[in-house]
Amino acid sequence: MSERPVTTLNKPDAALEMTLRPSLFADFTGQAKVKERLEIATAAAQQRGEALDHILLSGPPGLGKTTIANILAKAMGSNMKATSGPTIEKASDLAGLLTNLEEGDVLFIDEIHRLQKTIEEYLYPAMEDFKLDIIIDQGPNARSVRLNLPRFTLIGATTRSGLLTAPLLTRFPIRERLDYYQSDQLTKIVIRSAHLLNIEIEDKGAHEIARRSRGTPRIVNNLLRRVRDYAQIRGDGRITADIADRALAMLEIDENGLDEMDKRILEAIIVKFGGGPVGVNSLAVAVGEEPDTIEEVYEPYLIMEGYLNRTPQGRIATELSYQKLGLKPSVNQSKLF
Ligand SMILES: Nc1ncnc2c1ncn2[C@@H]1O[C@H](COP(=O)(O)OP(=O)(O)OP(=O)(O)O)[C@@H](O)[C@H]1O
Ligand SMILES: [Mg+2]
Repeated sequence: MSERPVTTLNKPDAALEMTLRPSLFADFTGQAKVKERLEIATAAAQQRGEALDHILLSGPPGLGKTTIANILAKAMGSNMKATSGPTIEKASDLAGLLTNLEEGDVLFIDEIHRLQKTIEEYLYPAMEDFKLDIIIDQGPNARSVRLNLPRFTLIGATTRSGLLTAPLLTRFPIRERLDYYQSDQLTKIVIRSAHLLNIEIEDKGAHEIARRSRGTPRIVNNLLRRVRDYAQIRGDGRITADIADRALAMLEIDENGLDEMDKRILEAIIVKFGGGPVGVNSLAVAVGEEPDTIEEVYEPYLIMEGYLNRTPQGRIATELSYQKLGLKPSVNQSKLF
């Protein structure tokens, strides 16, 4: 649909991703409780010489699910094979992945909520009993063969744990949800990334980028690179608070970190839909974005920051949204607050 604004979660190129992605728990900032639980599970499994239990990681994009999967595999001294829900099209694709695993390996399935139902069913015995029942041959010769699999660890990642079926969900003994980061944690991440990329940055400049990054490490890293460009061309290369502020204003990221699409969403709800309630599909058409992207990327942050409420009837703009856009709610609208 429409062009994405600069702050959306365009993934940086592979080389950069490698440079900036922490590979040890020690370099992973924030998510303290999740980190502690996973570190303990990993250390305990290692001490017993067993594979780690299956783990489901959920949360909005760019918060570190793939990063944590990599850290876990490395901490276990295991190989990780990565795939994603939509790319496993046939049962034989899954069989191929599973039968190529070795004892203790990690199989990472990204976007696991997009796995087909029929394929999911093959996964249940594989996760629970490390067995795979496959049908070989067709027609009258078709028969089911049971294969023994090595003890492996499945790490599933999803931006929408609500879309997972109950049987799949309950087969993950460990389920962790990542939350948006605090700005002091993001400040640490920007400073670390700047250091790795040889960018000169003042603490106040780092803080300015951090607090306008929608609580998301991937955005903080993307904005750091955009602000670096600005500092290089319009300044002396050094990222100060003032340079960061001017660069972010140029990128149309406001004081509270909202970008063009965030504001378009709020404006649509208020101006086109009288403040709401409005369903996600109508809203998506109005702003020219996919409904899934609105639900996974934009809404969670707007809700957390208090700009939106989600009700069974649809999305409603809050008083804060009206203030943000400099609009006044009608008497009827203010009854919704
Ligand atoms: N806690 C952290 N500390 C430092 N950097 C981080 C942290 N979490 C994530 N990052 C950085 O943010 C980038 C995005 O993280 P990651 O790819 O793991 O997110 P994700 O949750 O898998 O996103 P998606 O749902 O889009 O796949 C990583 O490349 C890494 O550089
Ligand atoms: Mg990922």
